[in-house]
Amino acid sequence: MKKKIFSGVQPTGNLHLGNYLGAIKNFVSLNNDNKNECIFCVVDLHAITIAQDSITLRENIRETVATFIACGIDPKKSIIFNQSKVAAHSEAAWILSCVARMGWLNRMTQFKEKAGKDKENASVGLYSYPVLMAADILLYDSTHVPVGNDQKQHLELCRDIAQKFNNDFKVENFFKIPEPLIQKEFSRIMSLKDGSKKMSKSETSDLSRINLTDGNDQILNKIKKAKTDSLPIPSTVKELNDRPEARNLIGIYSSISDSTLESSIQKFSGKNFSDFKENLSEILIDKLSPISDEIKRLLKEKSYLDEILEEGSKKAENIASKKIREIHDIIGF
Ligand code: TYM
Repeated sequence: MKKKIFSGVQPTGNLHLGNYLGAIKNFVSLNNDNKNECIFCVVDLHAITIAQDSITLRENIRETVATFIACGIDPKKSIIFNQSKVAAHSEAAWILSCVARMGWLNRMTQFKEKAGKDKENASVGLYSYPVLMAADILLYDSTHVPVGNDQKQHLELCRDIAQKFNNDFKVENFFKIPEPLIQKEFSRIMSLKDGSKKMSKSETSDLSRINLTDGNDQILNKIKKAKTDSLPIPSTVKELNDRPEARNLIGIYSSISDSTLESSIQKFSGKNFSDFKENLSEILIDKLSPISDEIKRLLKEKSYLDEILEEGSKKAENIASKKIREIHDIIGF
């Protein structure tokens, strides 16, 4: 059976190493497997849950497409489109918001983190954001959803919504129950400045993340300044348990070099972090500079990027509009 893959990335700028290692790298290998049908969505409706400047948003939408392609997603093999161009997403989100329960949404930790102390002032969209995400996934009968660890709870909610719709309307298997594809070891890349916080686009300090458009000198500088501790690299993974920054850097090295934590530790055991950091910068530059160069090149080809989105949106529209008509029928509209 063909796997139907769906995932999304917000066009909110500063796409970083966490997005790449946690999600996009996996999109690329799924795209390369001819047995899969892949859809990768630039989720611009999700982006506006937090205020955006219109010119910057437009640029960030193109930059997200450029990043997908520069990382290795082939627009001839996968559908790449932006969410706002397929009206079914907004419509299905409304319908599913009548299925989802307040109690379910109240448990979402990402809303609590993003809204912070000023919950009363957060947009309603930020609160109901996971329902839109469920709409994205369910409209395409997606079977597998590759994401980083921070999206796990949203996927569980999506599964609950699908199940409840199928039960309430007695339409067994109408919505497929999607499986999350979350990498075992490196699904949560942490900030370079604080090993207890995830690497994030919105963190004010640019030194906390490696952006996919960073040049070689920036990568060198950020890795040099990355927080570590004074101990050398241990000889077992277990000894990294209470050393979050050390664990994160060795995790990044392992993930980018397609190896395991064990083998990286064996390679560097007993060495101090300055030696290790040299190796880490070298491999990051080696892997990321072709991506960063290609993003910058593609960004100059605006009409090419717009064409990809237009083509992709037509294909996505074809699939999603059929599903929404079926939803109408089931509901009694
Ligand atoms: P977004 O745009 O925040 O992030 C895009 C992808 O990158 C992953 N990610 C990380 N992985 C590892 N370590 C990190 N530090 C890190 N930061 C981000 C995210 O888990 C994600 O996979 N709600 C989603 C977008 C979305 C979506 C969807 C995803 C909308 N609809 C449908 C899947 C299916 C989001 O905000 O991702």
